[in-house]
Amino acid sequence: MLVPAMKALVSQIFGIAFLLLCLFDHRACDIPSVRGYGNFSYATWTVNSSEEISTLSPKGCNFIGGSVYIRSNYSGEFILDGVQVITGGITIEGSLFDPSANITAISMPDLLYLGSFLARDVASQLTSISMPSLENITDLDLELSGPAKLNFTSLTYATNVLLMGPIDSMDFDSLTNVAGSLEISSGTSCLSPSDLCFNASTVVPPLAIRLPSLVNATGIDFSGNLSGLYMPTLAIANNGHIGRQRIGIAVETYGNPIDISFPNLDTLTDAILAGTMRIISFPHLQNLPGQLSIEAATPMNLDLSILNATSIIIRGNLTGVALPALGNITTLEIYSSLPLDCSFMQHVFQSIRHSLVGYGCYSPPFSSSAKSGNSASLSEGAKVGIGFGAVLAGAVISICSFGVWWRWKRNRDIAKRPPVVEHELQDRNRRNVHNVDDGPPEYGSMAETEFGSVDSEDTVVANVGQASVQRARGNANAAAEERRGAGSGA
Ligand SMILES: *[C@@H]1O[C@H](CO)[C@@H](O)[C@H](O)[C@H]1NC(C)=O
Ligand SMILES: *[C@@H]1O[C@H](CO)[C@@H](O)[C@H](O)[C@H]1NC(C)=O
Ligand SMILES: *[C@@H]1O[C@H](CO)[C@@H](O)[C@H](O)[C@H]1NC(C)=O
Ligand SMILES: *[C@@H]1O[C@H](CO)[C@@H](O)[C@H](O)[C@H]1NC(C)=O
Ligand SMILES: *[C@@H]1O[C@H](CO)[C@@H](O)[C@H](O)[C@H]1NC(C)=O
Ligand SMILES: *[C@@H]1O[C@H](CO)[C@@H](O)[C@H](O)[C@H]1NC(C)=O
Ligand SMILES: *[C@@H]1O[C@H](CO)[C@@H](O)[C@H](O)[C@H]1NC(C)=O
Ligand SMILES: *[C@@H]1O[C@H](CO)[C@@H](O)[C@H](O)[C@H]1NC(C)=O
Ligand SMILES: *[C@@H]1O[C@H](CO)[C@@H](O)[C@H](O)[C@H]1NC(C)=O
Ligand SMILES: *[C@@H]1O[C@H](CO)[C@@H](O)[C@H](O)[C@H]1NC(C)=O
Ligand SMILES: *[C@@H]1O[C@H](CO)[C@@H](O)[C@H](O)[C@H]1NC(C)=O
Ligand SMILES: *[C@@H]1O[C@H](CO)[C@@H](O)[C@H](O)[C@H]1NC(C)=O
Repeated sequence: MLVPAMKALVSQIFGIAFLLLCLFDHRACDIPSVRGYGNFSYATWTVNSSEEISTLSPKGCNFIGGSVYIRSNYSGEFILDGVQVITGGITIEGSLFDPSANITAISMPDLLYLGSFLARDVASQLTSISMPSLENITDLDLELSGPAKLNFTSLTYATNVLLMGPIDSMDFDSLTNVAGSLEISSGTSCLSPSDLCFNASTVVPPLAIRLPSLVNATGIDFSGNLSGLYMPTLAIANNGHIGRQRIGIAVETYGNPIDISFPNLDTLTDAILAGTMRIISFPHLQNLPGQLSIEAATPMNLDLSILNATSIIIRGNLTGVALPALGNITTLEIYSSLPLDCSFMQHVFQSIRHSLVGYGCYSPPFSSSAKSGNSASLSEGAKVGIGFGAVLAGAVISICSFGVWWRWKRNRDIAKRPPVVEHELQDRNRRNVHNVDDGPPEYGSMAETEFGSVDSEDTVVANVGQASVQRARGNANAAAEERRGAGSGA
């Protein structure tokens, strides 16, 4: 009897194969079978050199019912004409973080369907991957070691897309639907466990993310030195299921400030938008049932037309915050490191909730108004501003290292890393969680200077401070929970 996973795999492959049999005149290629678990056998074509490509038989075959395994000593370009379907995956041999495979390019001009394509930081000379006819893929996982051009111009449906590393250019102009996760980072891939996958002080080439046809995606996660974001048709950004990808959209950009604009987005539950942003705009988004976290690293005037939100947390270099259409909200917290007039948002919040429970707005005082006050309040404001900076940095680092952990875990699942590495990472996460926990007392001191006119000021601020500690703990617990879940599942 087959184990259930194998059974599912077999039926999936047969399902696809059956579908494709009906779709075109298929001529199966002869590739050797390998016996796997039970009596399940799978076919793998191992390619050692470019000469072997011409030995694929029979001549003119276009259907590979199995997988392609490219050996690490394969040198030069891998060009496979004529093949339209590969039911299994393409994998380049190599060990994680050892990009010594010698392949320089992959070109499969006629391929329409591919199960998966994995290249996990194994080939530093791979500078071009071109599958311009490919329409469907389940998993596309490209962790690039050197700058590469990617042409997937017809790709329309994908379950998981991961692009990481220096990307010279990307053509994903037809991508419409991503059902699992969509993760793109211009940063270097995790070369060693002590590296943050995303490290703002590591200079990486800029990347313009262009997804002109994307409508419906799950677990969008973009990071790195982003020089542009063009997603004019994105309407639905569903929350994912694992790691950070429980979030609908996460963007962390460090480079020249860019516009974060989703002109057609109307369905979103949770989002994190962080880094060097010029504006944030989603004019069609009215309901936000989850949490929106914004962390502005460069001065930004935030103006959002959301009608109905549960939780909005805004931090960083804010010159203004306006939510002019807001009709309902449960939690609104603003931690500005620039002087900000909090009174307007406080008025909006109070008129909605008839209370200030769930509201907090902290900023250093305007220097002009401070002149009329005493100098003590000014220095206190400045001190608090620094405190927020530290808290923010802690939060960003913990988010980042969670991402590292998640990517690492996933890599480990395949590469079976030695367990000691995982412990190091867990220790790091734990330290960062402590950083977050250490922060909130600073909020208390801020509150006293900023909430002078508000009734029961201490309660309000204590609630907010506690809420953010609890949230940080909640997140840490959830992360730990997932770690356990993933561990026992593996
Ligand atoms: C494999 O096939 C052989 C012969 O058909 C059969 O005797 C054997 O029980 C099978 N083994 C498994 C694990 O299914
Ligand atoms: C490619 O290399 C593998 C492993 O060394 C070997 O089993 C296979 O026969 C080689 N293929 C050809 C066509 O020589
Ligand atoms: C790669 O290695 C395999 C087995 O070690 C060998 O059969 C093959 O010829 C090698 N290919 C090249 C291009 O050296
Ligand atoms: C890649 O090519 C270099 C130089 O020819 C060679 O030394 C190295 O062993 C090759 N890498 C692999 C994985 O075969
Ligand atoms: C691609 O996926 C879509 C949606 O799942 C399906 O309708 C279509 O038939 C698939 N096309 C191919 C070539 O597999
Ligand atoms: C991708 O390939 C297609 C077909 O070869 C071509 O028309 C298109 O211009 C390429 N895209 C890029 C960005 O080069
Ligand atoms: C969006 O994509 C998800 C996952 O593929 C799917 O379940 C859902 O039906 C899609 N929604 C729309 C409106 O197409
Ligand atoms: C980020 O990169 C810089 C320069 O490469 C390095 O000095 C620093 O330690 C890195 N930071 C982290 C947190 O890894
Ligand atoms: C981002 O790219 C720009 C333009 O190439 C470059 O000047 C800058 O140093 C990069 N920043 C980072 C953090 O890599
Ligand atoms: C506001 O959001 C809540 C929670 O998502 C929802 O139940 C409610 O219907 C929304 N109200 C409006 C006016 O859309
Ligand atoms: C605000 O901007 C200043 C200068 O551009 C920068 O040094 C600081 O880190 C930023 N603050 C935050 C919280 O990002
Ligand atoms: C605002 O949202 C809260 C919590 O979801 C709900 O209890 C309250 O009825 C809502 N108020 C309005 C006016 O919709």
